[in-house]
Amino acid sequence: MFLPRTGIIGRMENFTAEILYKRLAAWFHEKQRTLPWRSKRTPYRVWISEIMLQQTQVATVIPYFEHWMTLWPTLKDLAEAEEDTVLKAWEGLGYYSRARNILRTAKQLRAEGKDELPCSYAELLKLPGIGPYTAGAVASLACGLPEAAVDGNVLRVISRLLARPWQAGRAKDQKACREYLMSLMREAGISEDFSPAVFNEALIELGALLCRAKTADCPHCPLRTFCAAHLEGEVFSYPLAAEKTKKSSEEYTVLILHDEDGNIAVRKRPPEGLLAGLWEVILADGRRSPAEIEILLDDAGLALRSLEELASKKHVFSHLIWEMRVYEAEVQRKGAFNSDEEIFWRSPDEVLSLPFSSALSDYRDLCCRS
Ligand code: ADE
Repeated sequence: MFLPRTGIIGRMENFTAEILYKRLAAWFHEKQRTLPWRSKRTPYRVWISEIMLQQTQVATVIPYFEHWMTLWPTLKDLAEAEEDTVLKAWEGLGYYSRARNILRTAKQLRAEGKDELPCSYAELLKLPGIGPYTAGAVASLACGLPEAAVDGNVLRVISRLLARPWQAGRAKDQKACREYLMSLMREAGISEDFSPAVFNEALIELGALLCRAKTADCPHCPLRTFCAAHLEGEVFSYPLAAEKTKKSSEEYTVLILHDEDGNIAVRKRPPEGLLAGLWEVILADGRRSPAEIEILLDDAGLALRSLEELASKKHVFSHLIWEMRVYEAEVQRKGAFNSDEEIFWRSPDEVLSLPFSSALSDYRDLCCRS
């Protein structure tokens, strides 16, 4: 028995959970995309795909997910992997702490003798890098449990459905959205046909295909007759735009150094902080003139033989911009490289096998691919 519901702000909604679910599920069964993580649902596969899909487009994720599953088809396989190999498989996806947390979680679970992630929302939330969205996605999509999964797509769909001025990325609005979805699931869950997996993934798919941030295909939306924002003619007023944070800027001089034997100088970034554990060519703070570069190299025990400015490059992170001036140099090693951090001289092929940040990987490709 489904009763009309009173919304959080007192409006009587013109739908029941059951009818909403029926419309969503019928649309999803007909229109959903065939995506590699939608076959063979296991907590492990859902977890990897959902972490990859954070801040990353579906089309970008597909080849990464497929490659990952050939390398490590199960949690057990992954737990044996080296961090460099995992970072290499993540190279180009960005937000590398996601990959390091995945590996930490796999090793931790294996150390506890487990060969799969737990299904419980509360247990999932305790694992490194798993927040409410991922916990809800694994619990519902892989295990069929009635847990909400609120990502940017879902928050947008629900904020329009209810005409609530929520803001993507604001924790209290994500919580309100989650509570609303949990109440809908409790209500719809009475029905035998109700699938939390279909419910959640249909909302994600609706946000990705029809109810998009800048374009909305309302005439084809299965929820159009219920959607308060659509009925008010105010679809693009919801959700509220996220506040823009001002990005700070840092300048670097990038040095691609070749020694007499054709090796290239690389180093590994520290285990904490931005791009932790990734490899890079030599990065000096600030903008250095050719004369300053020569002195810097000389101090490090390297004689400059030739220097060419390749390009200026900007790399935009979520909170920071790197302004880089890139040089390629031939040097002669006079002795041990005197540097605070350990420098490794590697052949072009070896450099290509190391995980690099995409901030620098195009120059790495330029100098190392024959
Ligand atoms: N974005 C986040 N999760 C997704 C999923 N399961 N399918 C498609 N796009 C998504």
